[in-house]
Amino acid sequence: MKRRRFAAALAATGLAATWATPAWSQAAGKKLVIGFAQTGAESEWRTANTDSVKAAAQAAGYELKFSDAQQKQENQIKAIRSFIAQKVDVIILAPLVTTGWDTVLKEAKAAKIPVILESRNVVVKDPSTWTTFVGSDFVEEGRRAAQWLLGHTKNTTGTVNIVELQGTVGSDPAIERKKGFEEVLKAHPRYKIIRSQTADFTRAKGKEVMEAFLKAEGKKINVLYAHNDDMAIGAIQAIEEAGLKPAKDILVIGVDAVKGAFEAMIAGKMNVSVECNPLLGPQLMEAAAKAAAGQQLPRWIKSIEGVFPAEVAAKEFPNRKY
Ligand code: AHR
Repeated sequence: MKRRRFAAALAATGLAATWATPAWSQAAGKKLVIGFAQTGAESEWRTANTDSVKAAAQAAGYELKFSDAQQKQENQIKAIRSFIAQKVDVIILAPLVTTGWDTVLKEAKAAKIPVILESRNVVVKDPSTWTTFVGSDFVEEGRRAAQWLLGHTKNTTGTVNIVELQGTVGSDPAIERKKGFEEVLKAHPRYKIIRSQTADFTRAKGKEVMEAFLKAEGKKINVLYAHNDDMAIGAIQAIEEAGLKPAKDILVIGVDAVKGAFEAMIAGKMNVSVECNPLLGPQLMEAAAKAAAGQQLPRWIKSIEGVFPAEVAAKEFPNRKY
């Protein structure tokens, strides 16, 4: 292909003029092949995330090889190795936990396959083994949850006892949502986290762990801070079964702003959800095309998100897409 015609073909695909091999393949009409190593289907959020990536790949005309790791890091590592063996153009990884990725990401780099992180970040010795992170600022989400609590309880006095349901141990959102929440409350000693335990981002475990919290602390609990809405929804059931009123006897704070949380807020059972956007598919496809073309990407393609208190839930509900 002559250089000028090739540049025109690249422009038509929305890619900048770079002479990296994958860009040539695309311009020559080869489908971009992406391997997606997803965590699993632990939450409403995750299902929306998977659907978004699948729909965006289809809309872009790319081939998506999808792997559901069922919450096991070893399955994600196996999936990445299989994508490398299949010589995919780009790998998208939603890392279950932050650590343990050094070796496999090095293998992807050695095979010259760009790795895009989505929805969760990693901690590795060599950051050049991944290209960009597409997702949220989890520390900020934790801060927003605490700021809502401070505002909502500003006219009260005395100790505010909080129980916390953490996400998957060692996962980026669990670590950072905790950090951001504590960072804000540090300056306000009357707010005390009296119990904090993982419930793995699932409804079933959210209910189970909340039952244990209620057994141990009973009516002492003033606030539930759950690292995602699914755990909050499970906990709401436990609160009701204990004969207490969620959102009244115990304030309920969740993260994600999924439809289930809006339904709970409209029903008067949940107070607020801090948004975490799962609809990352279109940004991921754009980043994948650029990465395959050898283009430089920003280290972080950050999601823009809000906070939805119960007062706005009914009005906002019709606009929600997940
Ligand atoms: O990584 C994002 C988190 O993972 C979501 O907040 C949670 O619901 C999901 O399981």
